[in-house]
Amino acid sequence: MELPRSFEGADALPVDAVPPAVRAAALASRNSGEPVGGYLYDLAAAKERAESLVRALPSRVKVFYAVKANSFPPLLAALAEILHGFEVASVSEANLAIAATRKAATHSAAAAHGAAPHGAAPHGAAPHGAAPHGAAPHGAAAHGAAVVEAPPVGPSATGGRMVVSGPGKNSAMLAGLLALEHPLTINVESLLELHRLSRAAVATGRHAPGREVPVALRVNPERSPVRIDHAHGLTMGGLPSPFGIPEPEIPAAIRAVGSLPGVDFVGFHLHAVSGNMDADLHAEYVRGAVDWAVRTADEHGLHLRTIDVGGGLGIPFEPGPEFDITAFGAALEPPEGVELVLEPGRWMAGPIGWYATEVVDVKRAYGEAFVVVRGGINHFQLPTSWEIRHNFAVVPIDDWPVGLPRPVVERERVTVCGELCTPEDVLARDVTVERVRAGDLLIFPNAGAYGFEFAMPAFLGQPPAWRTALIRPRG
Ligand SMILES: Cc1ncc(COP(=O)(O)O)c(C=O)c1O
Repeated sequence: MELPRSFEGADALPVDAVPPAVRAAALASRNSGEPVGGYLYDLAAAKERAESLVRALPSRVKVFYAVKANSFPPLLAALAEILHGFEVASVSEANLAIAATRKAATHSAAAAHGAAPHGAAPHGAAPHGAAPHGAAPHGAAAHGAAVVEAPPVGPSATGGRMVVSGPGKNSAMLAGLLALEHPLTINVESLLELHRLSRAAVATGRHAPGREVPVALRVNPERSPVRIDHAHGLTMGGLPSPFGIPEPEIPAAIRAVGSLPGVDFVGFHLHAVSGNMDADLHAEYVRGAVDWAVRTADEHGLHLRTIDVGGGLGIPFEPGPEFDITAFGAALEPPEGVELVLEPGRWMAGPIGWYATEVVDVKRAYGEAFVVVRGGINHFQLPTSWEIRHNFAVVPIDDWPVGLPRPVVERERVTVCGELCTPEDVLARDVTVERVRAGDLLIFPNAGAYGFEFAMPAFLGQPPAWRTALIRPRG
């Protein structure tokens, strides 16, 4: 199949599908001489989403944001004010999470003492689009909604905890994580990893009673609790995969964690689905994971303290209902004395980000129209990686240098390509646009998760995407 999937002539989004604040910020970024190519994030909207999720869940469910989805430091700091912690997969992500936790704690303390909670962002200022981190800490509510200041349940109540996942945790990484001296749980994914962790723990004096490293065993369940079969969903359990410990090997891992020094069993971790749009199905997955964890802990006489069910809450990339967090929360009943951890990435960050890119050329070849943009898979690889039909809106720009020919297509199917020398560099195929000209902007909503982080910036050495936060107009 050619990726991304064809739109088969479906229309591009109308321009008002992009909030005015986002359009204004994208326009304001046209000031560097380089074509526009970057991400705009609405941090106020991120906080609203985080709050709404925490509110929808029973109190024994803790929400740890998966940093891999979007590690933009101001976003992490905004989320750290609301959430209980972070899921990280490297020492560098852990450092970002710690910095965000500290920043949020300072911010919360300042707010408690009556300082302005949203920093010194100039009234109504637009972002400097070409600055890699050119952002005030708190953004405009692009949807015009008021931002509710949440009680700082994250940093002050929990110390910004972390869980660490990933199938290749080597000795250097484990030593680096322990050296951070930050509250973290390691989701161990193999027997060798457990031995490495024990050795690193002993080397850093963590074998003393009460100092052991909390460990959750990541399980690859034998039977997948839920199978996602739509294009951008992934099923990561019940299949041969490098993730986690296959269920039949869990008894051996339990014996090992009980006998090795420096490690302390706290529970189980499963991250077996991604992009699930069905809240009932997701609740069924979580209940299945909880039942399995409780049963297994009982069978082995273990004290179960945490069940981490990973991320996987989906967002609609094509018109359709949202994942129903209220129904999901209502269907969860964590067992007494056990903390249930969720690690959402995509749901949290996807809808609060937009990718904006300038049309560099419009051309025709043998009857087909191509729109060539500043970025492509070097900025935004998501549509190709996940087979997403990721729609966009055309924002018309009337400025055009006098004397240059300006190519245009009207009411026609186009394929949107990037500037890389590879036929894989395609963002959208066969989309009907009302009009698009060289110099116009394309804005892709729903680009806040796995956008910047998932791209391949080194290929061809074109300027990387910038990232910026929207600044909230006050008043
Ligand atoms: C261990 C783990 N937790 C959480 C997530 C976040 O998943 P999602 O973005 O689907 O919520 C991922 C994504 O790959 C993951 O690997």
